Amino acid sequence: MSETTERLVNPRPQADDRLDPALRPKSLADLIGQDRVRENLEILIAAARQRGEPLDHVLFYGPPGLGKTTLAHILANEMGVNIKITSGPAIEHPGDLAAILTNLRAGDILFVDEIHRLGRSIEEVLYPAMEDFALDIIIGKGPSARSIRLKLPRFSVIGATTRLALLTAPLRARFGAVYRLDFYDIPAMCKIVSRAASVLGVDADPEGVDEIARRGRGTPRVALRMLRRVRDFAEVRAQGIITRSISHDALDLMDVDALGLDDLDRRVLLTVIEKYRGGPVGLSTIAASISEEPDTIMDVVEPYLLQLGFLERTPQGRVATRQAYEHLNLTYAKEDQPKLL
Ligand SMILES: Nc1ncnc2c1ncn2[C@@H]1O[C@H](COP(=O)(O)OP(=O)(O)OP(=O)(O)O)[C@@H](O)[C@H]1O
Ligand SMILES: [Mg+2]
Repeated sequence: MSETTERLVNPRPQADDRLDPALRPKSLADLIGQDRVRENLEILIAAARQRGEPLDHVLFYGPPGLGKTTLAHILANEMGVNIKITSGPAIEHPGDLAAILTNLRAGDILFVDEIHRLGRSIEEVLYPAMEDFALDIIIGKGPSARSIRLKLPRFSVIGATTRLALLTAPLRARFGAVYRLDFYDIPAMCKIVSRAASVLGVDADPEGVDEIARRGRGTPRVALRMLRRVRDFAEVRAQGIITRSISHDALDLMDVDALGLDDLDRRVLLTVIEKYRGGPVGLSTIAASISEEPDTIMDVVEPYLLQLGFLERTPQGRVATRQAYEHLNLTYAKEDQPKLL
């Protein structure tokens, strides 16, 4: 873990991302990319407004850093309601959730990040709350214990997760709308970086922006962090202006290659290729070979390698593709490769 917390390309939040809230788009109209999700949300919001009802419960899933939290804030803004933010691991006891729920006002949004990490006993409080806007509480102990049902205001849950598969079926079923966030394409990444540069007052020419966008792994959080580091580099080594060659040199120096891969990504690919002859090999074996957490590989390394087409998932494990060999300048010898199903 210590290694990954230092990664420039880590899509998980880090300490120096604290400026990000200033960069968050505030309305759906300001949102860049994610067109399909945006259109769906426009309809969801318009319909709720027309009926004078709170928003349906919404679940966002996808790799970290793509804007799940941003979208939750946008929904609250667009609906003109308050948002209360919590996360699966932060709610330790059913009583914690009960306290949060009883403090909500009608229409409020409860944002639950990492919702797949909610405990079972907590989920059981959440089910009736989401479905019937009711809270069942047990008063007393032993034979005299009784259960009373409290009415809650009508509120909306927005859940976010990087692991849809870890959500229990009953919890998932309580969301009226489920949206997957995808990596951003290069034009959207360029817009995001150039908007951030102007908000932060950074002098970047379009080519400099393009270079950062290309190395940003389709992930706004990563590209914004790169922008800050490239700005530092530009201020120290150039006249503060971010050009393509400045972006290029700065990111090379930070060991991020032209596609945004860093040392950890390369170690994962090299393990599959050199230790396991290209695979298939299980993810936990890869993680053990390079002394990393399987969760880290699964959340922050693999999604982007799959997206690039450098890794494939098969029932037997992960397989490195020809493109991965070529990117690493290794010879792809077809007869050496295991048969894919
Ligand atoms: N569509 C977008 N347009 C512009 N900036 C964006 C967009 N999406 C995200 N960002 C920027 O990227 C940063 C990270 O986004 P956000 O915190 O919403 O990610 P997330 O998906 O919630 O990640 P995580 O899964 O780690 O919680 C935000 O601070 C915001 O500035
Ligand atoms: Mg978030």
